[in-house]
Amino acid sequence: MSDRNELIALRSVSKVYRKGHETVVALDGIDLILPAQGMYAVVGPSGSGKSSLLHIVGAMDHPTQGDVVVAGQSLNTLPAAGLTRFRRKTVGFVFQGFNLIPNLSALENVMLPMEFDGVAAAERRQRAGALLDRVGLAARLAHRPGELSGGEQQRVAIARALANDPPLVLADEPTGNLDSKTGGMIYELLKAISRERTVVVVTHAEALAALADGILHLADGRLAANDLRRTSHV
Ligand SMILES: Nc1ncnc2c1ncn2[C@@H]1O[C@H](COP(=O)(O)OP(=O)(O)O)[C@@H](O)[C@H]1O
Ligand SMILES: [Mg+2]
Repeated sequence: MSDRNELIALRSVSKVYRKGHETVVALDGIDLILPAQGMYAVVGPSGSGKSSLLHIVGAMDHPTQGDVVVAGQSLNTLPAAGLTRFRRKTVGFVFQGFNLIPNLSALENVMLPMEFDGVAAAERRQRAGALLDRVGLAARLAHRPGELSGGEQQRVAIARALANDPPLVLADEPTGNLDSKTGGMIYELLKAISRERTVVVVTHAEALAALADGILHLADGRLAANDLRRTSHV
C-alpha cells in the first residue's frame, strides 16, 4: 500500500552513464520517499548526482535500474505519450540559466505551457497574468527576458513552472546565476509555493537549509543514511 500523502517514491534507483569503455555511476541505489507538500533541498559536491536525480524524477532521463513513481504514475511503465503528459502536467522545471524564450514577453513565456495543454487563449492570458502577479511581476508583463534582471527572469521562470498547476516543481541550482540577496528572495518564493505542492531544489547555498522541510545529502550517488529514505516495510 502506498501512502496517499506520498508524491515521490524511488526504489533502488541507479544511473550509470557509459562512454566507450568508461562508466560513471551517477546514482547508486537511491531509496527515497517525499510527501506531497513541502520544500526539500538536495545538497552535495559537484558530480555527486544531484542533477541526475532531478532529471530522473522529472522524466527528463531514464534510470538505468530501479523504480520511480511520481504522483501515482510509474515512470518505468508509462508509454511515450504518458511521459509527455507527465512532463506537461505533473512537473514544472526551474533551471539555473532561466531558459526563457528570448523573443517572447514575460506573459507569453508563462502562457506557452498552457497552450501545449490546450487552454483557451483568454484563459491562458488571465492565468499567466495572475501567476506573474503572484511572483511580483505584474508591472513587467510585456517585458522580454533581455529587459529583465536575473532575479526577475527567474521569477518569470517560476511562474512558467506553475502554469499548469503541477504537484511537483524541480529547481536545479535556481540561484546559481544570482547574487545572494536576490537568491534569498527566490528561495522565499519557492518556499511560498511549496505550501501547496512539493518543491525539490538542488543548491550549494547554505541559505536554503533553514527554509527547507528536509535536506537530502548526496555523495558519490548515494543518499546519507539519515535522509528521507523509503523504509523496508513501505
Ligand atoms: N550525460 C552524461 N554522460 C556521462 N556522464 C555524465 C552525464 N551526465 C552526468 N554525468 C556524470 O555523472 C556524475 C553526476 O553528474 P550530475 O548528476 O550532473 O552531478 P551534480 O549535479 O551533482 O554536479 C558526474 O560524474 C558527471 O560527470
Ligand atoms: Mg548539477
